Amino acid sequence: MVPDNRIAICPGTFDPVTFGHLDVISRASAMYDTVIVAVVNLPWRKGSTLFTAEERIGFLRDATQTMDNIEIETFSSLLVDFAREKGAMTIVKGLRAISDFEYELEMNQLNRRQAPDIESVYLMASPKYSFLRSSGVKELATFGGEIDDLVPNGVAKHLKERLGR
Ligand code: PNS
Repeated sequence: MVPDNRIAICPGTFDPVTFGHLDVISRASAMYDTVIVAVVNLPWRKGSTLFTAEERIGFLRDATQTMDNIEIETFSSLLVDFAREKGAMTIVKGLRAISDFEYELEMNQLNRRQAPDIESVYLMASPKYSFLRSSGVKELATFGGEIDDLVPNGVAKHLKERLGR
């Protein structure tokens, strides 16, 4: 399939989705006709995510209800192969800090070797989310920290139930 420049992929593990992810997804949704949120699903890596793929998708569906050009799917292949399968020309990712840049530069080089026809576009995190990552939210939830302004309500509730002491 020839890559379509109107279709973008927003990939991630989303374990769970945060307001930082949603910021990137909503900005991508304004830039492209269709945004496919691609949720990593590697069930053989048991215990590697707190929430199952179904739970992570459920959180994303609830949080993106008002965006009408979003599709949510799982993938368990190379990201560029999934993008190809979907006919997407672009992978959209958020960048928070220099540490993200180094990792993403490496991913970019690897992806480019596999699929020179698929481009990656990086959106700078909005300053209020530049410190935000799922692992940090899980740590806060474990020790009773304040997470209500970092993740959607339903996600906060599930995090507190699953991790709260
Ligand atoms: O930081 P995240 O959310 O766990 O990132 C997940 C993802 C898929 C965006 C990242 O692992 C990536 O860019 N992978 C590209 C390499 C690839 O295709 N790996 C196989 C699927 S994980």
